[in-house]
Amino acid sequence: MAERYDVVVIGAGPGGYIAAIRAAQLGFRVACIDDWARADGKPAPGGTCTNVGCIPSKALLQSSENYEHAGHAFADHGIDVKGLSIDVRRMLARKEKVVAQNNDGILYLFKKNKVAFFHGLGKFAGGDGEAGWQIDVEGPGAANLVARHVVVATGSKPRALPGVEIDNQRVLDNEGALAIAEVPRRLGVVGAGVIGLELGSVWRRLGSELTVLEALPAFLGAVDDAVAKEAQKVFTRQGLAIHTGVTISDVKLGRKDVTVAWNDASGNAQRASFDRLVVSIGRVPHTAGLNGEKVGLELDPRGFVVVDDQCRTNLPNVWAVGDVVRGPMLAHKAEEEGVAVAERIAGQHGHVDFNTIPWVIYTWPEIAWVGKTEQQLKADGASYRAGSFPFTANGRARAMGETTGFVKMLADAKTDRILGVHIIGPYASELIAEAVVAMEFGAASEDLARICHAHPSLSEAIKEAALAVDRRTLNL
Ligand code: FAD
Ligand code: NAI
Repeated sequence: MAERYDVVVIGAGPGGYIAAIRAAQLGFRVACIDDWARADGKPAPGGTCTNVGCIPSKALLQSSENYEHAGHAFADHGIDVKGLSIDVRRMLARKEKVVAQNNDGILYLFKKNKVAFFHGLGKFAGGDGEAGWQIDVEGPGAANLVARHVVVATGSKPRALPGVEIDNQRVLDNEGALAIAEVPRRLGVVGAGVIGLELGSVWRRLGSELTVLEALPAFLGAVDDAVAKEAQKVFTRQGLAIHTGVTISDVKLGRKDVTVAWNDASGNAQRASFDRLVVSIGRVPHTAGLNGEKVGLELDPRGFVVVDDQCRTNLPNVWAVGDVVRGPMLAHKAEEEGVAVAERIAGQHGHVDFNTIPWVIYTWPEIAWVGKTEQQLKADGASYRAGSFPFTANGRARAMGETTGFVKMLADAKTDRILGVHIIGPYASELIAEAVVAMEFGAASEDLARICHAHPSLSEAIKEAALAVDRRTLNL
């Protein structure tokens, strides 16, 4: 006998588990299915983000940052550290513990909110929007479910480099790059995107010689030009060898290393050998195993589930959210869509504003932005004013010894409404929240310039960037 639910969510990543919790809060009978397992076979809800993405990468970024600070920054403060060393095994074990805490936290939240969790692969087995959709669970939590509404939140997986096999020993995707057992002497990274820079930073801080090979001619092409330029300068100073305009021609696995051949921006043949190679060239939607073809779930040519701006698929009462649909592949975007879909199922007006989704790259200095870049505004022919404020002129940043970078604000020339904020600097990931709130409330740069900010704080750099839009900084 099939169990009936109002809402069945397939996938317990940030899109799925949040959709399930919100739907349960709204009074629905909800089930969530997820197939991720720990090494011991126990369920590991949380998806890519919790298991091999946001959470473990930030755990390792923190460990490696502590190590780098102890080795380089502490001396300035009069703190001498002798015999500094890193125990990679312990660092990785700590990361695993952080991941497990998050897995368990989600299982607790399911219990608390009375979401029924099924561990296994969720598959469409038939049905329709009238009688309900039949969803079979295969695996340890095998079951037959019938759902009035289905939310597909099956996420994404790494994009492969044609002809290059990921063995997660020598050639690594994000999962392998988060679990290297010893610091590689020479680390190569294909793709200077978010994963390449974050995970590359981890191993560089621990001692790897880092070479990054990027296909596009520009470094961080989607980031505001001024920030991208500063980032390239700072990362190069940190020791990253960044090659842009690269066309990979061959990747050969040796007994002890991996050799990459490429043509550089001028067409010259180049070659280098690495102890490990990380391939981080983007991610692709994941729908394998879902059996969507059985019910005619429409995918686009790139494999994304086709949805409208409300996350409705082509099938009645079937919704899709997160990495498996169009838009940025970010955990918080997936979560926002999950909440909005649950609210729409309840007849409410769930809402996601794509213009105010923040982006963060957790390198050090961190990079964060929201809204339009200056190059986008130029391309749109928009008339705008720009103001910048460097952290060298911020008292808190000086006290911290973290003066690299700046805040840049872009505002409409006529209305002064904030159009974009771009930060490279300490804790940019935290600072950007003020800009997101301001933009959500339709603030003008003058609003931020007139708001009292605590002194001394990094957030004063945002106020000063707002003042800079009107050419009236007080501390520069
Ligand atoms: P996912 O998290 O991919 O979850 C999908 C889940 O569904 C998985 O558990 C999968 O196993 C399961 N599943 C798939 N098919 C089925 C099925 N048929 N039946 C049952 N279960 C199924 N984003 C940020 O915002 N900030 C960051 O700092 C950040 N860091 C990242 C670092 C790395 C290394 C990577 C790889 C990604 C990072 N991301 C980050 C991106 C973020 O992880 C994704 O955007 C986010 O996980 C997408 O959530 P989702 O719920 O759509 O899918
Ligand atoms: P990405 O899209 O950020 O970067 C991929 C890079 O690889 C691009 O610069 C692209 O030009 C380059 N590239 C593509 N093909 C190439 C080739 N053949 N040779 C050389 N370079 C090539 O993708 P990434 O880093 O794999 O991350 C995937 C997604 O995960 C990101 O888009 C992001 O949405 C998410 N993520 C988010 C994080 C965050 O929010 N802090 C952290 C890590 C990942």
